[in-house]
Amino acid sequence: MQKKILIAIDGPAASGKSTTAKLLAKKLNYSYLDTGAMYRAITLKFLEQKIDLENLKKWKKILETTEVFLDYSNGNLEVWLDKVNVTSKIRTPEINNSISEVASMAFVREKMVALQQEIGKNGGWVIDGRDIGTVVFPKAEVKIFMVASVEVRAKRRQKDYENSGLSIPFEQVVSEIKKRDEIDSNREVSPLKQAKDAIVFDTSDLSIEEQVEFLYKKILEKI
Ligand code: CDP
Repeated sequence: MQKKILIAIDGPAASGKSTTAKLLAKKLNYSYLDTGAMYRAITLKFLEQKIDLENLKKWKKILETTEVFLDYSNGNLEVWLDKVNVTSKIRTPEINNSISEVASMAFVREKMVALQQEIGKNGGWVIDGRDIGTVVFPKAEVKIFMVASVEVRAKRRQKDYENSGLSIPFEQVVSEIKKRDEIDSNREVSPLKQAKDAIVFDTSDLSIEEQVEFLYKKILEKI
C-alpha cells in the first residue's frame, strides 16, 4: 500500500490554496482540512457575541466551551459551530475584516493547532492555512507555499463574493487582502511565512487545473 503522507499548503489570502487543496485531496484520495474555516468559525462567534475584541479574559472563557467541527461527509465542507451549521456565514467581508485579529490571539491558535494536529496525525491529509508547514506539521513530507500577485488574488476573491451574491468594489477587496496579509505576516505567534523547505509556487498565470496537475506530479514523486 502506498504510504499516506501530509501535504501542507500555506500562503497569503486568496492565493488559491483551498480550491487547489480540495481538488488535490480528491485526486489523491486524501482528506482535506481547511484550517482557515476553523478560524472563520471562531471569528463568527466572537463577532456575534458583540464583546470587544480587546476583552481577552472574556474570550478565553468563551473559547473554552466553543466547539468547531468540520464535516466533509457529503463531499462539500460544512462548518459547525457549537452544533449549528454556519457554512454560509463565514466568508463575508465582516469576517474577513476581523479574522486576522482573532487568529493572532495566542490562546485561539493554541486550541486550533492542537485540533489540527490531532486530525492529521496519521497522514493522508492535504491541509491549507498559514502556519501548517512551519508550526502545525513542521515534518510534513510536502510543503507548498502558494503565492500570486495582489491583483490576481483580489480578482479571484471578488469573484468568490459575486458567486455568493455580494458585489464588493475591487479597491475594497484589494485593501482587505493587503490588511490581512500584513497582520498575518507580522503577528508574534505562528506568522504567515514560508517554511525553509517549502516549494514556492506562483499561481498568478495558472488555471486551477494547471495548479493541481503540477502539484499532483510533485507529490507522486514523494509517495
Ligand atoms: O481563503 P483565504 O486565503 O482568504 O483565507 P483562509 O485560508 O480562510 O484564512 C482566513 C484567515 O484565517 C487568515 O487571513 C488568517 O488570519 C487566519 N488563518 C490563520 O491564521 N492560520 C491558518 N492556519 C489559517 C487561517
